[in-house]
Amino acid sequence: MSNNSWWQRAEKVLPGGVNSPVRAFKSVPGDPLFFQKASGCRFTDEDDKAYIDWCLSWGPMILGHADPDVAAAAIEAIGEGTSFGAPSRREILLAEAFLERLPFFQQVRFVSSGTEAVMSAIRLARGFTGRDKIVKFAGCYHGHVDHLLVEAGSGLATFGTPSSGGVPADFSRHTAVLPLDDDDALEAFFADHGDQTAALIVEPFPANAGLLIQRREFLEKCRQLTTRHGALLIFDEVITGFRVGRSGAADLLGITPDLGTYGKIIGGGFPVGAYASGKEIMDHVSPTGPVYQAGTLSGNPVAMAAGLATLEKTGRPGFYEELERKGALLQSGLEKAAADAGITATVVRQGSLWWTVFQDEAPRAFESIDASKMEIYGRLHRDLIDRGVYLAPSGWEVGFVSASHTDEDIQQTVAAVADTFTSWS
Ligand SMILES: Cc1ncc(COP(=O)(O)O)c(C=O)c1O
Repeated sequence: MSNNSWWQRAEKVLPGGVNSPVRAFKSVPGDPLFFQKASGCRFTDEDDKAYIDWCLSWGPMILGHADPDVAAAAIEAIGEGTSFGAPSRREILLAEAFLERLPFFQQVRFVSSGTEAVMSAIRLARGFTGRDKIVKFAGCYHGHVDHLLVEAGSGLATFGTPSSGGVPADFSRHTAVLPLDDDDALEAFFADHGDQTAALIVEPFPANAGLLIQRREFLEKCRQLTTRHGALLIFDEVITGFRVGRSGAADLLGITPDLGTYGKIIGGGFPVGAYASGKEIMDHVSPTGPVYQAGTLSGNPVAMAAGLATLEKTGRPGFYEELERKGALLQSGLEKAAADAGITATVVRQGSLWWTVFQDEAPRAFESIDASKMEIYGRLHRDLIDRGVYLAPSGWEVGFVSASHTDEDIQQTVAAVADTFTSWS
């Protein structure tokens, strides 16, 4: 059955035809494609057309789709039982492998999604500090937790208003939203509210409104101010964890948060999240401490097996250096394609995370993104689908390089982009 027929059926039975909103192609022209299978960086849709995939399930597939070792580990685990609801050895093996790469943390709790990891980490920060207020940044996404679906209040209001239907205004009352890259706003917030603040949460390389790479000094200021005021610093590494380097951004930047949240890669394509910290803080989590958090499928053996196989392969010598090399090759190729066609574009990149923005320099704050340029991305997306290249279906989303992308895949992609840009002139 064709993409179109599936889409017609989908719209009848799923709200908006999808199970997660950005999949519905609302930010790009055309209807969503339906995928039947994927292997490495190749994606095949229901019309039997193949694409080079740069979206990679939004980040988990750092080894590419259906990696043989990850698949074998998951299949072996399935054969031994798919869910125990009781302790099992693979949870410990993954926890040990995870903590070995994150030596500044001592304990980790596995959950089933990034959203759940963040929600639990915030609860833990509140339980540990005995404070209610939290602070986040505009342009950072931390999952669909009620009190994080908040946008900056208007005018001088420090605390935010809900950015989603169904979130009571009361739930956003303790969440402040600050601009990224603004030291003065950060200092002013901590001067006024620092002593009532439980936590500051930030994506250390914000990758949910494009890729907004921060000045290291700004992140250091986050660290200093939280320490000074007895608030916790949470690095949300759901995207960056085990992606931008051996363990993620904290290690790369040399800035140690009090709590870290993870997901995506550590589940090897299965639903997993995690939050981690030192023992003193983790002792507050139930059953040891008073902060309740639980899950029927937490530490699921199949997901643990896939995560473990993924960490094992990403831990091999040279793995991240090779991703860096491929990322740089893609970046320089795309930048040249734009320059040759006289198109203003910047390819922002951190390791294997990349984002094309049709502006002449990389923005550092959400407010510096020119939303009117997203229409250009929409055209690029459509024209690349015709040429067998699949990008994330929104100009606000980043791309991912995997170990399975070859230099040839990169060259083919660059050639498709160059051909598209030329066809516009
Ligand atoms: C930084 C960050 N935090 C949290 C989440 C939520 O993770 P999940 O979609 O697994 O709930 C995401 C999802 O993309 C994310 O990018």
